[in-house]
Amino acid sequence: MAKDFKEWLGELKSKCDIVSVMSKYCHLVQKGRGYWTCCPFHLEKTPSLCIYEYEQTYHCYGCKEHGDVVKFVQKIESCDFMQAVEILAKSVGMEVPNFSLKNDDGIEKRKKEKDLVLQALNDAMLHYKENLYKEIAKPAQEYIKKRKLTINQLNDFVLGYSVDYNEMPNYLIGKGYSYDILQKAGLVDKNQKGNFYDPFAYRLMFPLFNMYNECVGFSARILTNDKTKAKYRNSSNTVVFDKSNLIYGLNLLRQQKQKEAIDKIIIVEGQMDVIAMHKAGFKNAVACLGTAFTEKHAKQLKLVSPNVICCLDGDKAGLAACNKIVDILASEGFTVKALKLPNGNDPDEYIKEHGATKMQQQLDNAVDYIDFQIDYLAMGVDFKQSNQKTKFMRDVIALLDKLNSDSEKQVYFKHIRDISGIPTDILRQDVFNRNVTQTEQSSKIEDNLNIEDGSNKALKFILASMLYKKEYVNYNFNLKKYLFNDTYAKLYDLIMSKTNSDQNFRISSLYDEFNFDEEPNLVDIINYNFEENGNNEKYYNECLWNIVEKDLINQQAKLNEQFQNCTDVNQRKQILLSIAKITNRLKNKNMED
Ligand code: GTP
Ligand code: MN
Repeated sequence: MAKDFKEWLGELKSKCDIVSVMSKYCHLVQKGRGYWTCCPFHLEKTPSLCIYEYEQTYHCYGCKEHGDVVKFVQKIESCDFMQAVEILAKSVGMEVPNFSLKNDDGIEKRKKEKDLVLQALNDAMLHYKENLYKEIAKPAQEYIKKRKLTINQLNDFVLGYSVDYNEMPNYLIGKGYSYDILQKAGLVDKNQKGNFYDPFAYRLMFPLFNMYNECVGFSARILTNDKTKAKYRNSSNTVVFDKSNLIYGLNLLRQQKQKEAIDKIIIVEGQMDVIAMHKAGFKNAVACLGTAFTEKHAKQLKLVSPNVICCLDGDKAGLAACNKIVDILASEGFTVKALKLPNGNDPDEYIKEHGATKMQQQLDNAVDYIDFQIDYLAMGVDFKQSNQKTKFMRDVIALLDKLNSDSEKQVYFKHIRDISGIPTDILRQDVFNRNVTQTEQSSKIEDNLNIEDGSNKALKFILASMLYKKEYVNYNFNLKKYLFNDTYAKLYDLIMSKTNSDQNFRISSLYDEFNFDEEPNLVDIINYNFEENGNNEKYYNECLWNIVEKDLINQQAKLNEQFQNCTDVNQRKQILLSIAKITNRLKNKNMED
């Protein structure tokens, strides 16, 4: 018995000749000093991977992939180091000893139990499968017909049927398993009377596989539309099954990778979608089992390919899930694309309605994940409503903040402009202006956005009226607080200081103060055509109210948001009072506080 892991590993490697291990996966041709094969890790037609028997290493002269026998198994089986070691050990009948713990009876016992559990699950899987073709499985057969599953899919995914509550437990007990083991495998539950029963009774069975292609549990679908029952029922967690870790279809994807390099992975939402995708020829589709997608899932996928397309259900829930998943994938270093299927379709429905070619087109048109997230943020936003536009702008800036460089951010300006109408100049200003505080930032966003709407038109007229000393100007009105950019504020200050000092104000002096080439609004103000408004005094008052009203509506929106997020009863009261005050002012067109 080896003393430590290194010594043991040496022994393992001496038994696992790299040429014989690799020949199980690749077609080898001996030439000169080595064996040559087409590299399984990149697409190629002529061999550029060489195996050196004497050194027990391999090297690909195309993609530079190289290593020893363990590294090869890691890559080809899409697994980590210890898993590769385990695979190799299994293949030569060696046990991986536990070097960190003392070799007590407990470990031996648990291992035996685990093996029995796996064996029971495997027997159950095969039996469920057999059941599917019996007379008694008519409901399942009809369902399969309805969903247009073919024999290939039934076989690839080893679908089966549980005919009732007792048939399967009886069968397994008859084979010599104990109820204890069946319970540990998640194959039976106990009712109140203390009797064991099959929790998957009358359901279509989808076996779930681990990385060794062993069945570790089941996902079972109800065949009726009974809304009082869960549509899918999954095995509970056991010694061999962790729901939060399982990726449906990953076993097939791994096998696929051993046939040819996998260019990218497609993530879909449900197991039926995986199966439909396979049927349509997209063998690189996988799903997680209705549980939240986590880094654990991402890390497993990363071993297969660094490129992912997320193609979840096109409904609200699916898009929301997709919006989260792409973030996790991106932070795990994937190149991530996403797409939104039309009419709330899931891939299964979409393929049924439109066929595989159209699905391929959808996948080809998948967009970079940030573009997907921008569209997601814009969903349902009415860009004619200032407060909605402002919120969108804030969200989109937060989104771009995740990107590292300004040049990366800039890539998305055009897309944002196209869907929201927010000019790229303004985006640039707000996105890159990151050293101001958060509140300054958000008010600035609003300011810039407001430039786009009627308030700007109103302000230009008011400032022009002041500049040309129109008799109807109300100098007591505090315009300053409504001025949303530095230019307007500066102009206002200039006008007010001259007005107060009774000095003669020469318009031409403005050219010393401002750069007119960059200030189209100023040009409008000094060239203001008062003729086009009809009654200027009336228009002046309308304009004042226009900007006050806009400000009040913004305040109200902010208060509403505060109210939503506030849990303190007293504070909520205060906020409601403030909202009521504003509502009142809006109703009575009250200019002043
Ligand atoms: P079909 O109706 O068979 O087409 O289902 P689907 O594949 O379209 O799945 P759906 O989009 O409804 O849900 C996505 C995934 O969530 C499913 O594949 C299941 O893994 C899981 N799921 C759905 N409903 C339930 C449920 O009621 N209970 C549990 N535990 N999981 C569910
Ligand atoms: Mn579906």
